[in-house]
Amino acid sequence: MNLVVDADRVLADLKELHERHGGPDGARRLAWSEDWLSAREWFRGKLDEIDGISVDRDEAGNVWVELPGANDDGGFVIVGSHLDAVPSGGWLDGCLGVMGALGVLRALAASGSPPPVTVRLVDWADEEGARFGRSLLGSSAAAGTLDPDDVRDLRDAKGTRLQDALSACDVDLDGAGAATSRLEGALAYLELHIEQGPVLERDGLSVGVVTGTAGVERHAVRIRGQAVQGGGFPMDARRDALVAGARLVLAVREAARDARSRATVGAIAVRPAIPTAVPGLCELTIDQRHPDADALAAMVNEVHDAAARIAVDERVAIDFERIWAIAPVAFDDDLVALGEETAREVTGGSVRLFSGALHDAAAVASAGVPAVMLFVQSAGGISHAPEEDTAPEHLAAGVRTLARLADRVIARSARPPG
Ligand code: GLV
Ligand code: MN
Ligand code: MN
Repeated sequence: MNLVVDADRVLADLKELHERHGGPDGARRLAWSEDWLSAREWFRGKLDEIDGISVDRDEAGNVWVELPGANDDGGFVIVGSHLDAVPSGGWLDGCLGVMGALGVLRALAASGSPPPVTVRLVDWADEEGARFGRSLLGSSAAAGTLDPDDVRDLRDAKGTRLQDALSACDVDLDGAGAATSRLEGALAYLELHIEQGPVLERDGLSVGVVTGTAGVERHAVRIRGQAVQGGGFPMDARRDALVAGARLVLAVREAARDARSRATVGAIAVRPAIPTAVPGLCELTIDQRHPDADALAAMVNEVHDAAARIAVDERVAIDFERIWAIAPVAFDDDLVALGEETAREVTGGSVRLFSGALHDAAAVASAGVPAVMLFVQSAGGISHAPEEDTAPEHLAAGVRTLARLADRVIARSARPPG
């Protein structure tokens, strides 16, 4: 078998999705929103054009598409990513992997005979965690690592509870764990994604293979001082929550001093947020990442220690709530080697990369399913912004590499063991 994928059609699908569910101000596909549901409806229309597949949604809101194989008890190979996006995000993050998987499924369905093993496409629900701060929601439900009590009361910027947002999309949070059945019998998981960093562009390569993802520790921090009138109150008597927050932001950066560490304060809000009052309340999020679990723990401790000192200096209370954490994840050695070989064969060169960005593949791998990701280069390394882009030749190279890799993994999975 040598699968022939129509990469131009995949690019046309991506552009159509961007025209309908994005635009000059970026993506409009925030998870659990009307916009996201309507992007998924559009996707459903694309699926309806393929013969011989079935489509359904699991208990956690992930969409699954199945093309049965000649041996339907032989397990299945999964290809996928996510359609949800951060607000004003780019046109490729997540969508490239879903549209690439659609291209693979179309090619398999058009090949005239069933694949030797079943192939499933997945569109994971809420990879980004942009609305409630909890990333990889659908994939971790499928991986068995989502505890409903950890996320039920998370609120978005408008105060909506996560549990209620899911329920408005017909997902019962307490039943979401049943999605674990979807990974039973999975032989391999493949995901194509943009790099969201500078390495492939710098090295002049279209496609790289990902060896794993960094560990993440994410906290919501609440700093309580005292709101007072800004004109009347002396500087040395203030309990300014924002000044304490600003010092904490710098401490977060300071603790990310080695080249492999990452730390981001991506959201901050103050109250009462008027020019004439000292902020009495400051809330912010801290997202810390490192490929080494011990180094990540040390970063987190350093920031906690800094917060304790700042609280004393500024006479404020600082409370940390851990919103989410995931350990560093290594992808499957054999699939990484096969991915690298395939990328070299299809594109003429490749490199192994580690991912600081999170991906559903990490949740899947942590459930014991052999997983690997392919990255295509990102213009300027920019992502989570409307400027996110990749030249068509690199996108097409990524789609062709995904198809070739899927073809090989499917063929390999069909062979009897031993
Ligand atoms: C997802 O984009 C992440 O890296 O958090
Ligand atoms: Mn993504
Ligand atoms: Mn993203």
